[in-house]
Amino acid sequence: MKTLIVYFSQFGNTRRLAEAMAEALSRAGDAHAVGVEQLASSDFEGIDLVVMGSPTHAFSLPPAVRSVLETLPLAILGGKSVAAFDTTVKPWPLRHLRASPKLLGHLSRLGGNPVARPQTFFVQTKYPQKTGEINLLLDGELERAQEWAGSLAEQSGI
Ligand SMILES: Cc1cc2nc3c(=O)[nH]c(=O)nc-3n(C[C@H](O)[C@H](O)[C@H](O)COP(=O)(O)O)c2cc1C
Repeated sequence: MKTLIVYFSQFGNTRRLAEAMAEALSRAGDAHAVGVEQLASSDFEGIDLVVMGSPTHAFSLPPAVRSVLETLPLAILGGKSVAAFDTTVKPWPLRHLRASPKLLGHLSRLGGNPVARPQTFFVQTKYPQKTGEINLLLDGELERAQEWAGSLAEQSGI
């Protein structure tokens, strides 16, 4: 099975999760993670499972993610399994105000076949004052991400 994990990450946490998932999925075949800024349409060639992750910004997708999704050719994910995750601040209760349901909607619109419900991984702070990489992940989230990624391989049935 070949997996591509596409992520956007301002402070490094979504990237850390994406890389942990790639490590877990590489046990089931070829898997690698790529930042959305570096994504090319050709990256999807030969891929069986596409996982996409983004932070929740303003209850939704950051503009950088939405603009990339809106410019990808329709049906580019035809025949591929897809799954989506986000990073969101822990106390935020409402699922529909997170990025991952919107992300999965875009992946479906592009022809993908969802193999799991949108998944959220939690960070502790909404707006860190500093810039650069900051570890905001709650304890255990990297491990939970690896378990979730492993379950995607099973659900894809490839
Ligand atoms: C501009 C901005 C808007 C944000 N809006 C939300 C929000 O609506 N809900 C939420 O739970 N977290 C919000 N956050 C916190 C982000 O979800 C958090 O910074 C992100 O998950 C960290 O992931 P990263 O390190 O990959 O950037 C916001 C952060 C920024 C910078």
